[in-house]
Amino acid sequence: MQFFVDTADVKEIRELNEAGLVDGVTTNPSLILKSGRDIFEVTREICAMVDGPVSAEVAAMDFDGMMREAEVLARIAPNVCIKLPLTLEGLKACRRLVADGHKTNVTLCFSANQALLAAKAGATYVSPFVGRIDDTGSDGMALISEIRTIYDNYGFSTRILAASIRTVNHVRESAMIGADVATVPPAILRQLVRHPLTDKGIELFMADWAKTGQKIS
Ligand code: E4P
Repeated sequence: MQFFVDTADVKEIRELNEAGLVDGVTTNPSLILKSGRDIFEVTREICAMVDGPVSAEVAAMDFDGMMREAEVLARIAPNVCIKLPLTLEGLKACRRLVADGHKTNVTLCFSANQALLAAKAGATYVSPFVGRIDDTGSDGMALISEIRTIYDNYGFSTRILAASIRTVNHVRESAMIGADVATVPPAILRQLVRHPLTDKGIELFMADWAKTGQKIS
C-alpha cells in the first residue's frame, strides 16, 4: 500500500519524505488556501521534492476550462497528476487527459457507481472520501470495500486512493480492504508509528540499560 500525504505544507512534506513515508502528495483548493502559497510556486516545490505523483486540482467546472487548466498544471512538472471532480465534465476531461498521456485523480467520489464511471473513464486514481461519508452517518469504509470488489470483478486498473482520512483506523481498515493508496494528513501519518507499549518498552529498557553502566561504542 502506498502513502500519499494530504497537504500543501512543504515543511511537513519534507520531514515525512526524509522518513521515507511519502510515495506521493495530494493537494486541493482548500489545502492551497491553508498553505497561504501560490499554487504554481508551491506545487513546483513539492514536485521537486517528491518522486511520486503530486495531485493538483483544476478549478474550472466545464470541459474546455478543465482541459486548459490541466495543460497549465501539467507544465509545472512531469510528476503532476491532474485532479478532476467526479462530474460528467470531469470524466470527459479525464478520458481525454489519459489518452494524452497524463495521470489523473478523479476526486470527490462518494458512491460505488461514481467509482465505476471513473474507472471506465480510465482514471489513474479514484478518491473516495471516507471521512466525509462518516460525517453523514454512513460508512466510508463500506464504500472502499464496494469499490475494491467492483474493480476486482472487472480487472479495472484504476487505483483506489482512500481520501479524507481522519483516523489511524481509517488507514488500517483501508489497508485490510486492499485500497491501493491512502492519502493521509501529516498528523495522522505521524500517529501511525506510535504505540503506548512501544513508549513504555523503551522507557523500561533505557532504565535497565542505565543500571548496567555499559556503553555501546
Ligand atoms: C483528497 O485528495 C482530499 O485532498 C482530502 O483527502 C480531503 O480531505 P478532507 O475531507 O479532510 O478535507
